[in-house]
Amino acid sequence: MHTILKIFSIVVTLTVLGSCTSSEDKIYKIGFSQCTSEADWRKDMNYSMKVEASVHSNVALTIKDSKDDPQRQIRDIEEMILEKMDVIIVSPLEPDLIVAAITRAINAGIPIILLDRKINSNNYTAYLGADNIEIGRNAGKYILSSTKDSVNVIEVRGGDSSTPVVERSLGFRQIVDNNSRIHISGNLDGSNGGLPKTNFKNLLDSLGAKNIDYIYFFNDEMALEGWKVAKELGVENKIKFIGVDALNGPDGGIQMVQDGILDATLLYPTGGSEVIKLALKILNGEEVPKNSLLATTVIDKLNASIMKDQLNRINQQQTEIERQVETLSEKEKLYTSQNILLKLSLLFILIILSLTAYTVYSIIAIRKKNRQLELTNTKITIQRNQIEKIANQVKESDEAKINFFTGLSHELKTPITLILSSIESIGETVKEKGSKLGNEVELIYNNSNRLLRLINQLLDFRKSEDRKFMLKASKTNVYDFSTNIYKEFQREAKKRNIEFNLKSNNKNLDLYFDRNLMDKIYFNILSNAFKFTPDNGKIGIEIVDDKEKKDAQIIFKDSGMGIPENELNKVFEAFFKGSNNKKNSSGIGLHLTKELVDLHKGKIKVKSLKGSEFIVSLHKGKSHFSSTEIVQETEVVVDDKKDLMADLESNFYVESNFEYSDDHYTLLIIEDNKELSGFLSNKLSEQYNIFLSDGTDAIDRAFNLIPDIILCDINLPEKNGFEICEELKKDLRTSHVPTVILTALSDKESYIKGLQAGADLYLTKPFSYSILIQSLKSLLYNREKLRFYFTNNIHQVEETDSFGNMEQAFLCRINEAIEEHMDDSHFSVENLADILKISRVQLYRKVKALLGLSISEYINEKRLAKAKNYLTESDYSISQIAYHVGYSSPGYFSTSFKNKYGITPNAFRSAN
Ligand code: FRU
Repeated sequence: MHTILKIFSIVVTLTVLGSCTSSEDKIYKIGFSQCTSEADWRKDMNYSMKVEASVHSNVALTIKDSKDDPQRQIRDIEEMILEKMDVIIVSPLEPDLIVAAITRAINAGIPIILLDRKINSNNYTAYLGADNIEIGRNAGKYILSSTKDSVNVIEVRGGDSSTPVVERSLGFRQIVDNNSRIHISGNLDGSNGGLPKTNFKNLLDSLGAKNIDYIYFFNDEMALEGWKVAKELGVENKIKFIGVDALNGPDGGIQMVQDGILDATLLYPTGGSEVIKLALKILNGEEVPKNSLLATTVIDKLNASIMKDQLNRINQQQTEIERQVETLSEKEKLYTSQNILLKLSLLFILIILSLTAYTVYSIIAIRKKNRQLELTNTKITIQRNQIEKIANQVKESDEAKINFFTGLSHELKTPITLILSSIESIGETVKEKGSKLGNEVELIYNNSNRLLRLINQLLDFRKSEDRKFMLKASKTNVYDFSTNIYKEFQREAKKRNIEFNLKSNNKNLDLYFDRNLMDKIYFNILSNAFKFTPDNGKIGIEIVDDKEKKDAQIIFKDSGMGIPENELNKVFEAFFKGSNNKKNSSGIGLHLTKELVDLHKGKIKVKSLKGSEFIVSLHKGKSHFSSTEIVQETEVVVDDKKDLMADLESNFYVESNFEYSDDHYTLLIIEDNKELSGFLSNKLSEQYNIFLSDGTDAIDRAFNLIPDIILCDINLPEKNGFEICEELKKDLRTSHVPTVILTALSDKESYIKGLQAGADLYLTKPFSYSILIQSLKSLLYNREKLRFYFTNNIHQVEETDSFGNMEQAFLCRINEAIEEHMDDSHFSVENLADILKISRVQLYRKVKALLGLSISEYINEKRLAKAKNYLTESDYSISQIAYHVGYSSPGYFSTSFKNKYGITPNAFRSAN
């Protein structure tokens, strides 16, 4: 496409340029300053100039008329200089004032041609006009030749000081002065308006008509005026009138001669056409004479008609030329327009050709693209079919898996139901016999119930996915219905000190809903609330009935951790788990809840500011259900029967309930499931001093207790088990404590993560109780072995030792500190703890755990070992040695030495 556009633009540019360059000849601007256009003679001059100019296509002629005003003529010339005329022709009004303007034009490089009149300066390019002196002479000669007698003559001159006025008179006088036959009887100067008639009349009167033979006028126009005056006086036939100009036309001098008004006229050619030719010569660089004179002649009765014929012929020729010029210019216009038309046609043809070429190219390209597209299409179709096939296979396999799980869930329901009913009857027996098994019976009951609910949830989810729920709505008192469910959760609330309440602004409110399904809605929302509300928190159910509104609301509020704002719109999506939720969740409970509310044509909304708030809105009345969806059910009875397990002795493990025994190892259990931690505590409390943490204070508890062993879950509310284990293992205070991770995560990655965190053992749930007991024992046994090693290698423990680990480094630091303060009898356990930057108790527990000795016993042992060394290796006296190893009295030193080694220091020295 780009190439096509390029071709277009080149063609267009060439065409346009072509049409522009056809008139490349230079156009000559010729300006003519005419002194006045009043007189016919000057009109004739202008006309013949225009005709001549029109013959030359390269001439642009501009005529400016000064209207008899010399200042205006100067301005006209100035303007023509500014307009950059190539030549300026001037017919000057007068010969002096104009000189400066003409000089400026010459200085500007513009040639000046003077026409008909001259100036009083030589600074011009050329002059063209007839010889006015000769005209004056010819007039005189004509009078002499027409008679042999003496004649009286009047001379009427022009009204200004122009050269024709001066010269015509001068030539005439030359003849008169040299011939006695001519006598000038009077003379008169013309005025601006031509002949001053009154003066002329007075002159005639004063001279007397019979005394005048000839009157020589400056031009034919004045001669006619004079003849008219003579006619008025009735003397027109007595006097002969001679004029100048000899224009050819109805009012011209030649006609006047033929009509007998003038006796003769002297031809004074305007020079209009000649001056244009002269200008072109100058512009073409040709040499031209400074002064060119036009021919003149006398026209009288004898030659007037010949002259007229001649001049008419010239006029005709001129008209013909004019006509031809006009035709030519029309032809030229036609040619130009046709030329443009032709070029445009050519351009269009080119465009059409280019477009055709482009169309052909496009068709080929489109065909090619189409073939490619078809190919791609076929490939896509094949791929789509494959994907469809795979998707179907996946769907089938999914279906099979889900069916398997559904089937399995159904299978599980029966055994669990059996377990539940058995445990209920065991519960009865336990209650009757007052057995101690109450705790465990409740544990089995609660967890079987939970399992059953989870399986039901799974089956309900499947049902809702398949749209298999059948709604059976019945008229139900909402408050009574809520009370029954409320009671089921009351025991847990009490156990966990949760403020749990139910209230309603209309206890008589009846709504239509499927009791079975509504039970699931309540259970799901409340189970969630209890799951996420901490002990001592708050949970509430509120029934709000606004009489004005068509809907009633059931609001469930809790003081749990809430849901992050940006996740609120996702809580009802299947398998969604909140980012702040560290607990095990299937993610189908709330999804199912929403499906069930939708089934009731109700709405469920969630808010979360402090804790969470679920608002279930249900329509009042039954018009929104179809008749098949409505069933009759008996009224809800508030169930007063006591909770089966409520009376069972359920004494969950509380640390303070058990006595601390020095003979037992200390075990810290980090687990947020109260039932599990209670179960483990009860089982293990006979062999261990048990301490509990729900995970929120795990690290602090471990640092304070420095337990002998730790049992830690993974999914905990704040830090997870991996993080806790890693932190404890990195801290000197607890790095030596064996840690067992107990978790439901059985994948390989979690196992590796556990070991990387420094766990000593990784046990997965469900675990065998006896294996757990055995594992704890063997870990503690290994710790004993290590302790034995350290105790027996105290003096050898060095940081560079290949056994180098945190514990060895710790012992080295203790040894260094003791060594440094060996002779200081005041050096105490507190001083040592300060140096090691741990508390006295932590130091005690750590040393006890590593070496099985108290720290003060250890310091003492170090002192005595050093003394033993001095006794064999040095010459110090016994009392000197006692002070060197930090004893304040040599007597006490000897007693301590004997107690430790069974021999007095003196005896020891003598023996060695
Ligand atoms: C016209 C005219 C002519 C005469 C010429 C002299 O204005 O008076 O009649 O021949 O000018 O310049």
